[in-house]
Amino acid sequence: MAEIYRASTTAPVNIAVVKYWGKRDAKLNLPTNSSLSVTLSQADLRTLTTATCSSSYTGEDTLTLNGAPSDISGARTQACLRELRALRVAVEEKDAELPKISSFPLRIVSENNFPTAAGLASSAAGFAALVRAIADLYELPNSPTELSMIARQGSGSACRSLFGGYVAWQMGSQADGLDSKAVEVAPASHWPEMRALVLVASAAKKGVSSTSGMQQTVGTSDLFKERITNVVPKHMKLMEEAVAARDFAKFAEVTMKDSNSFHSTCADTYPPIYYMNDVSRAAVRAVEAINAAAGKTIAAYTFDAGPNCVVYYLEKDTAAVVGTFYNLLASTEGWKAEAKSYASSGVQLEEAVATLI
Ligand code: ADP
Ligand code: DP6
Ligand code: CO
Repeated sequence: MAEIYRASTTAPVNIAVVKYWGKRDAKLNLPTNSSLSVTLSQADLRTLTTATCSSSYTGEDTLTLNGAPSDISGARTQACLRELRALRVAVEEKDAELPKISSFPLRIVSENNFPTAAGLASSAAGFAALVRAIADLYELPNSPTELSMIARQGSGSACRSLFGGYVAWQMGSQADGLDSKAVEVAPASHWPEMRALVLVASAAKKGVSSTSGMQQTVGTSDLFKERITNVVPKHMKLMEEAVAARDFAKFAEVTMKDSNSFHSTCADTYPPIYYMNDVSRAAVRAVEAINAAAGKTIAAYTFDAGPNCVVYYLEKDTAAVVGTFYNLLASTEGWKAEAKSYASSGVQLEEAVATLI
């Protein structure tokens, strides 16, 4: 019986507070702007990926995603696999004792314990896990930064999921992308009171993927030019200051404004893209009501490319923030129905209150 080599890993979701939206190089996945995110706890939302290879396997590399075969012939997944194999070949050439597993077909099996392709960063956790599982399988010596640059080629946001805490993806300026990388702005322990409440308005696959949506925005929106030239640089600076000073009100204002700015460029895309729906807008109003009742900003909403809402708040404000949302869930038909489908995907709503890693 031929040996089966195996490695398993999990990777967390990250939810950007200054959003990546736009590629200047679609092949290398280089962004038009820097971005900044918070990595959520793997105890709540995570991808679990197992990579195996064996001389007994035949055919192409395969990926089984959430129990179904997934097409990995696309250039971006292929770039990740090619780079990881090349690194394994280099390791094998240095040490003749090592088994030549680089030539074996790969079988990758992955599961997200949260909705896939619904605007909850499945591509971020997914590609971070895929790259790390294969790097572990191949026993590669590469640093998280190097692996992050490979994951970036799979999905841009994935480069930030190789790190915990507060993570910036610096856009870089080089054509080869070697200076386009994720760096830790602060560890989670810098601001351990931060919490994220994940509200699932719809677990359905989005109509327009992030990849396609941002290409359409880059190609058609005038507002987008204003965003990448003036808005994002300002938000990056303010956000880094807010995190450094643990200034929640400032963090929250920039988070909400940046989400609004990003969704405005989607609406300014021709034809327009609408990721947020009526339920999303109800969540915006609920956050505003929470802040008005508190007399200060204690909650911040943000939406990725999908209708689902992530609310950042501090631990001490749990009762005011989460309590209000549970009442809303209990009283609003739209939320209630979808909360059920979320629970059936394996995560109870109560468990979706994420801490940071
Ligand atoms: P999301 O908002 O969830 O990140 P995207 O449109 O950016 O949605 O990307 C969704 C795509 O990411 C999926 O269709 C799939 O191709 C890929 N993906 C999601 N999860 C995984 C995973 N665990 N492993 C590999 N690829 C994944
Ligand atoms: C709105 O990283 O999913 O979530 O690089 O094409 O795979 P690709 O796109 P992806 O885009 C994420 C967009 C976003 C904002 C963010 O995560 O920064
Ligand atoms: Co994505």
